[in-house]
Amino acid sequence: MEKTQNMLSDLASDVLQGLTAKPKRLSSRFFYDRQGDRLFQQIMELPEYYLTRLEFEILLTRKSDIGQLFLNSHQAFDLVDLGAGDAKKTKVLLRELLDRDAAMRYVPVDISTNSITALVENLKVEFPRLEVAPQIGTYHQVLDRLKTSPAARRIFLLLGSNIGNLTHDHAIQLLSSIKDAMGVGDLLFAGFDQKKDPEMILAAYNDSQGITEQFNKNLLLRINRELGATFDLDTFKHWPTYDPETGTVKSFLVSQKQQVVSIPSLKVEIPFRKWESIHMEISQKYDPPLIKRLAEASGLIVKTAIGDPKGWFKNYIFSKEDS
Ligand code: AVI
Repeated sequence: MEKTQNMLSDLASDVLQGLTAKPKRLSSRFFYDRQGDRLFQQIMELPEYYLTRLEFEILLTRKSDIGQLFLNSHQAFDLVDLGAGDAKKTKVLLRELLDRDAAMRYVPVDISTNSITALVENLKVEFPRLEVAPQIGTYHQVLDRLKTSPAARRIFLLLGSNIGNLTHDHAIQLLSSIKDAMGVGDLLFAGFDQKKDPEMILAAYNDSQGITEQFNKNLLLRINRELGATFDLDTFKHWPTYDPETGTVKSFLVSQKQQVVSIPSLKVEIPFRKWESIHMEISQKYDPPLIKRLAEASGLIVKTAIGDPKGWFKNYIFSKEDS
């Protein structure tokens, strides 16, 4: 069994573990195949999905304050963009920093070779003066690499409330790995979606056009395509919930009938009771005490936070505890 597990792809072993667990779960990190990327682009344009617009607004309206914070010591630095994607938001900061003649290298980090290649090509045209040193891999792989390769100074970016897709334990692991790759005077600039009217939060994950439903169900399609499974998407209901006490949005797909899904490549049959759920994703919402708690548990200090006027989304600046 162990040998079989070792030979399985990441997706296959996650599916096998998750769908044979009680309760059933899948991992949202597999949402992002080509179609998943497209659907997430559409989500970011939705009227209900406020996160991207708010963070973009914060960067646009406060870029001068942010630039000043980053350039504080006038030392050359690497701007390490964790999960760079198409860097749409980061470009606001790149422009600001280049206008200030920052001695900076841009280090976009992404797991997708395709998206890094496209970004590097695009940056050559849009920012010909910018030195780009891309890193391909998971956050943890790249942070491990950086930890052992000293640089003058580093500023890490973790935008989009991407940290919200992690449990608190995993968020602490990620923040600790960033801290381990930081030196004295280095900074982390990270976006955190804040607790707010539960109705507004829930609507962001239950949009009227059904794009978020497609985004969740796309993982079932991916499992059908890549692992030969027999999921019938129409028999599952998209069901996001928001708990204002914990600040956690949990998204489920719920089987509307008793059924058995076969996954021939894994040699398993997955039985579903009527109304049995698969937990697909968490999207954590934060408040200042929670962020302080996560920072302390990771050896980081909150230096300051910059938010939109209503305080719905905030970008926090952290440093290492002893700097
Ligand atoms: C990428 N991440 C921060 C998004 C979020 O808000 O949790 C993913 C997403 N899931 C559904 N809508 C958007």
